[in-house]
Amino acid sequence: MSEIDMDKVVSVLNRILEAELAGVVRYTHYSFLVFGFGRIPIVSWLREQANESLLHAQQTGEWITTLGAYPSLQIGSLLDSHKHDIGIMLRESLEAEGQALELYRELLTLVEDRMVALEEFARQMIHAEEMHAAEVDKMLRKPGELAQFSARR
Ligand SMILES: [Fe+2]
Repeated sequence: MSEIDMDKVVSVLNRILEAELAGVVRYTHYSFLVFGFGRIPIVSWLREQANESLLHAQQTGEWITTLGAYPSLQIGSLLDSHKHDIGIMLRESLEAEGQALELYRELLTLVEDRMVALEEFARQMIHAEEMHAAEVDKMLRKPGELAQFSARR
């Protein structure tokens, strides 16, 4: 196994940490702005996503200190569109999650065949983020529509 490029790995991990922390804030913020008949299940789904982002942030932060580096206290960019439409929230979240997914893929490339445990973590996160994106894609389809939402853009 060849050595990992520690600086690059830590920098990607820190960007992931910032992205996941932004997710915590984004989903919590969205959860305050759901009104109408569907409120209760949608609020609880958004809070679950906030919790999952927090868990991912915590796991990522632990990896950073495991590698002997300092975890970032910054937070990824947050866009406040002031639009409270659920469809817009879901599209924004799909886009933000897509960016996080790219970071996890970058992490995987950096550690693949070099560090088994961190490679495993990257793969698990890619799996989790892809499943999440698939779920959001289904939520963005109209009832009865089979085609992928993302394929229509
Ligand atoms: Fe995540």
